[in-house]
Amino acid sequence: MNKIEKIKESINLLSDRLSDNPGIGMVLGSGLSESLTPLLNEVEEVSWDEIPHFPEPTVEGHEGKYLCGTLHDKEVLIQQGRIHWYEGLPWDDVIYPVRVQKYFGIEKLIMTNAAGGINEAFTPGDLCVINDHINFSGDNPLRGPNSEVFGPRFPDLSHAYDEKLQEIATKAADNLDINLQQGVYAMTSGPSYETPAEINALRTLGADLVGMSTVPEVITANHSNMEVLAISCVTNKAAGMQDKLTHEEVLEVTEKTNQKLGNLIGEIVKKI
Ligand code: HPA
Repeated sequence: MNKIEKIKESINLLSDRLSDNPGIGMVLGSGLSESLTPLLNEVEEVSWDEIPHFPEPTVEGHEGKYLCGTLHDKEVLIQQGRIHWYEGLPWDDVIYPVRVQKYFGIEKLIMTNAAGGINEAFTPGDLCVINDHINFSGDNPLRGPNSEVFGPRFPDLSHAYDEKLQEIATKAADNLDINLQQGVYAMTSGPSYETPAEINALRTLGADLVGMSTVPEVITANHSNMEVLAISCVTNKAAGMQDKLTHEEVLEVTEKTNQKLGNLIGEIVKKI
């Protein structure tokens, strides 16, 4: 069975279980998967383990699920959890959930993640709209034979993060009095956090944030002509800028920031 046939089988199950037509999709990352729960109505849910061909996430706190529901009267598809490159699965598995969102009809994709702040002006708990990225993973999810049904061999990433959606996010943050940072996200492969020397190098290269996700999904979404908005929750100062880094701290800060992030995404969805 080829990639597209597998996706179609996954979509069949989703279409049977979830109402059609959410135009806006979301990927909610590490510790942020509950950010929208209080704002959602008419929720329908499918766990990834019920969907044929779905890869299994291996990281605790990343159980995969799709939710469909209404957010300020707009229908949205929410992906709770993602597969990370560092889990060791093939790229096709890492990007599978985004391909499924595309074939479910999603045109606009809002992604969130937890990230370390490289920019000195960023404080843990800040939200930051990503305006560009540096792929420091050393690889590319589209490496290998290209399926033209998904998109072109050489996708353009000049506007990987949709400018109109960034503008909407900025206005939404103003309305809510949220201080929304802007910056360039660097992806490292993980799972180790970076060294202080790597962080200094990334700062010199122009990165404001660092994390272990999002970039493969953004490349995949652009390959298939989706419009992307990505928002990071700054969970810590990057390596060398604070004493040490722990996953517990990351989870603690995301938990505290969930409500602010949920409100911001809600306001953005109202304006889309
Ligand atoms: N580095 C990489 N990934 C992260 C970090 C970090 O400092 N914080 C949260 N995710």
